[in-house]
Amino acid sequence: MTGAAEAAIQTGFVFAPQAAEIAREAGARLREYFVQGVETEYKGDVDLVTVADRTVEKLIRGRLGEVFPEHGIYGEEGTRERLDGEYRWYVDPLDGTTNFAHGFPQFCVSMGLEHRPKGIKPEADGTLVAGVIYDPMRDELFAAERGRGTQVNGKPARVSRVATLAEALLATGFPSRKRHASPNIHFYHEFTLRSHGVRRAGSAALDLAYVACGRLDGFWEFNLNPWDTAAGILLVEEAGGRVTDFARAHYRLASDEILASNGLIHEELIGFFEDMFAGRDLAPIPTPEEFARARRNREQGVANRE
Ligand code: IPD
Ligand code: CA
Ligand code: CA
Repeated sequence: MTGAAEAAIQTGFVFAPQAAEIAREAGARLREYFVQGVETEYKGDVDLVTVADRTVEKLIRGRLGEVFPEHGIYGEEGTRERLDGEYRWYVDPLDGTTNFAHGFPQFCVSMGLEHRPKGIKPEADGTLVAGVIYDPMRDELFAAERGRGTQVNGKPARVSRVATLAEALLATGFPSRKRHASPNIHFYHEFTLRSHGVRRAGSAALDLAYVACGRLDGFWEFNLNPWDTAAGILLVEEAGGRVTDFARAHYRLASDEILASNGLIHEELIGFFEDMFAGRDLAPIPTPEEFARARRNREQGVANRE
């Protein structure tokens, strides 16, 4: 085990130390596949999957079964085990598959644990109690447990203190299915004009981990799944941030919308979502046609003067 791995396993955490070991082993496999290169298959028109996604989910399923034999597992690549159990892991073996398939080194393993008390309705959310996200390319392990804080490689993590959207660095992502049905490019445009910038780095779980440790001040996305968000939500909340839908409601794992922030800019972000959904306060930019016309006019003006 590396020094970072030892440091990442802090006393006080109940589930995260074992989960961290599993995530590190899974991440090491991803790193090997990344170096060697893998073939890509299509799940949908641009929804990619590789042998790494499937093999690493199998590895995680096996290890979780050994360490937490009573716990359920709900994985992106199809694992559905013991879903009537009191605890359930949401597993994304490779968050950032498109990056991975292109050799772009931004991806991670994400594992979030939900406590589902006996008698809870199948459609109801339990409580997120532990989350682990591992970035194998930077050897960074993000871990949190409910009531015990968030850590990055064993050190306490806090959200940023940025207090206004105008000074914020944000992130978002775009779906790989039904892309034409997503309005998110409009939000990307508006928030780009109102902040220090919007990053689209391709791994929602790492985006959430980065909000938790203050590298980003806010993150939003449409249509994510519980395996993308379960671990990251707890990381953000335990680091002092806030996670809701776009209308302030407490975030649900089946939600179509996620908005995570350092808490300080949350109301300002929600105000913009409200304005934009109501069609108010949009900041216009030139269309490509208007831009080309103005460029032609400028060039024409220069030519006439010569
Ligand atoms: C994707 C990534 C990406 C997000 C997509 C997700 P995957 O997960 O998190 O950042 O924008 O919506 O589907 O498919 O690479 O596990
Ligand atoms: Ca994912
Ligand atoms: Ca995935």
